[in-house]
Amino acid sequence: MNKALQLPSQSPMMDRSFIFGVATSSFQIEGSADERLPSIWDTFCATPGKIADNSHGLIACEHIKRFRDDVKILVKLGVDAYRFSISWPRVMTQQGELNENGIQFYEQLIEALRAEGIRPFVTLYHWDLPQYLEDAGGWLNRDTAFEFEKYVDAVVGRLGDSVESYATFNEPFCSAYLGYEVGVHAPGLTGVSQGRTAAHHILLAHGLGMKAIRRNTEKALAGIVLNFTPCYPYSNDEADLIATNDADQYINQWYIKPLFDGCYPDVIDKLPEAHRPPIQEGDFSIMQQKMDFLGINFYTRLRYSASDDPAQLYFEHPHLSPKTDIGWEIYPAALTYLLTRLHEMYSLPPIYITENGAAMDDKMVDGQVYDLDRIEYYQMHLKAVHDAMESGVVINGYFAWSLMDNFEWAEGYLKRFGLIHVDYATQKRTFKASAHAYRGLIEKRNFATAV
Ligand code: FCB
Repeated sequence: MNKALQLPSQSPMMDRSFIFGVATSSFQIEGSADERLPSIWDTFCATPGKIADNSHGLIACEHIKRFRDDVKILVKLGVDAYRFSISWPRVMTQQGELNENGIQFYEQLIEALRAEGIRPFVTLYHWDLPQYLEDAGGWLNRDTAFEFEKYVDAVVGRLGDSVESYATFNEPFCSAYLGYEVGVHAPGLTGVSQGRTAAHHILLAHGLGMKAIRRNTEKALAGIVLNFTPCYPYSNDEADLIATNDADQYINQWYIKPLFDGCYPDVIDKLPEAHRPPIQEGDFSIMQQKMDFLGINFYTRLRYSASDDPAQLYFEHPHLSPKTDIGWEIYPAALTYLLTRLHEMYSLPPIYITENGAAMDDKMVDGQVYDLDRIEYYQMHLKAVHDAMESGVVINGYFAWSLMDNFEWAEGYLKRFGLIHVDYATQKRTFKASAHAYRGLIEKRNFATAV
């Protein structure tokens, strides 16, 4: 196994204009929970049985306290850009005004990044809804979409052009489906109609948020980050092919088609009336705002067949090996397939791969983490992005998930996705072999472009 990352020297990814970055999110790293309002994830963590190690985000990686050191790590990595999210409950008061202390943290972070030539890529919503809004119905309440618009107006009104790129949402699928339909994420509600309602209001909020971004900056890019798990048929039987197509529409296309085509995928017709989202006139035209980019998060694929239960659209098969430490199949060809297929299906703006990475069973030996398995994962997936670009897909950048080990939602601190190892007892940060490899790739790119 090779401990360096490589791309063909003629690859468009080795051009200086291609952005290499790393990503994090507010709840997963920030800590300093006493300086903000509670979010739905605080409540979820405090509910017994929801988080694998019974942990929480109260301290996390203490990023709020240590952000200047973390920016130094970004400088050492040599990244062009840093994708992070803004915590709604940190920057807004319950009265709907900016919380000075909270917004100033992000201003300082952005200034520190800018001073080092690192471009700030901001996500406005990475799952940490203020709890007081959940108490009023959360994403089941249409009003939350308008609350989001006000929040975006306030934040972008303040940060404006200092940010390179604003994404309204990170992975509406996860917030809606995992949070309101199957209940494994906050707020932990269940039911098809809840999931579809939450998704509808989030997509509406995306459209309103896009408008709010445009009102406050002419320069910064505006778009959204969607996650995709490409669906493969278990067999070539017609019933399995139909089930696979239904699954793809239900878990993937549901969150992109309204934004580009102004309607839900056909699978909506297979849902009983009571499960369909509460669409109001004009909603799709709000959702269909022109975007400057599409962020795509990719980790794995899934396989489907027809279900024996007539009430189910499909049956989802367990992941095949090889798998990462979180149990997700390693299948890089699905990333190329996804990118080329989306490119054919929709008229897309330029793409950024806003997340890709792997949880691995890291071992710290003599102060070092020799994570060759993670390097191999990155190598295969970078090549998959290269292949998609070679076949004509326009991709402007790639962000590794994640800068550092952090709070991995329902898995707590048990799963490590970082390029940088975090010792949670001491908060010591250590470069893993994968961090050195990523830095090496970016250095090679800089050198190749310089000559
Ligand atoms: C994505 C999330 C991100 C992280 C990775 C592993 O779904 O956006 O916060 O947890 O998965």
